[in-house]
Amino acid sequence: MDGSLNLKGAANAPFYLPQADEISVFQAAYDNQLPVLLKGPTGCGKTRFVAHMAAKLGRPLYTVACHDDLSAADLIGRYLLKGGETLWVDGPLTRAVREGAICYLDEVVEARKDVTVVLHPLTDDRRILPIDRTGEELEATPGFMLVASYNPGYQNILKTLKPSTRQRFVSMEFTFPKPEHEIPVVVRESGLDEARVKPLVRLANKLRDLKGQDLEEGVSTRLVVYAATLIRQGMPVERAILAAMIEPLTDDRDTKRGLLDLVTAVFG
Ligand SMILES: Nc1ncnc2c1ncn2[C@@H]1O[C@H](COP(=O)(O)OP(=O)(O)OP(=O)(O)O)[C@@H](O)[C@H]1O
Ligand SMILES: [Mg+2]
Repeated sequence: MDGSLNLKGAANAPFYLPQADEISVFQAAYDNQLPVLLKGPTGCGKTRFVAHMAAKLGRPLYTVACHDDLSAADLIGRYLLKGGETLWVDGPLTRAVREGAICYLDEVVEARKDVTVVLHPLTDDRRILPIDRTGEELEATPGFMLVASYNPGYQNILKTLKPSTRQRFVSMEFTFPKPEHEIPVVVRESGLDEARVKPLVRLANKLRDLKGQDLEEGVSTRLVVYAATLIRQGMPVERAILAAMIEPLTDDRDTKRGLLDLVTAVFG
């Protein structure tokens, strides 16, 4: 299989700043046809990482945002009626299996139970996708890779992966980037200068320290990028922080007041 880095793809890959050895782990999994699971909080760079790796490896990428109504048929495909004819239409997973593409199942724990059943024969060394409706049994084309992600932080015991599913994936934990990584990411993504990004990142880390006490989730890198983008566009700093880094975190007035005190502590 063409596991070597596709340099043409690498040049056009979406910007991703590595935090540790995630690129080499992903590459090794790809080279050995192993599926990958990314765990981590919202907005910490999982989707960007997969987009970056797909471009680097020169593979098409099919992303599916999983939700509680998502069924196996949504992934595999279904018969559709078209002008009096019944046509089989491949779903994104089937397309990826046929083409040797990367299929990224975002928030896989949200999907219905029948979805995990479909994933099992694809995520062990058989690498097959049985399509009951057509009687086909597809063998995955070399280059096909299954990547899934989920956020373990929502603390929903019912919504976690069964051991028999999770033990089929090479897994990596993503966390919010350390300041020395987050500052250049936010500078690059927003175009705001480093001097003005630094205090935003400092504030983000103070807000993250409150996770579990007053806040369900810490402020994401995505939101820091939003705040920096609004500031670069000319919005006053406090207004941008309220809109992009405080309001999205909580609806509770007292909590909000506490968070605003933190803003004053950082920005004076
Ligand atoms: N290491 C990184 N390199 C480049 N950009 C990053 C990085 N980490 C975070 N970002 C920025 O953060 C934004 C949000 O990241 P992304 O959409 O990948 O989050 P996610 O982990 O997929 O979140 P969710 O679980 O909500 O889907 C990106 O659009 C990008 O601007
Ligand atoms: Mg994502």
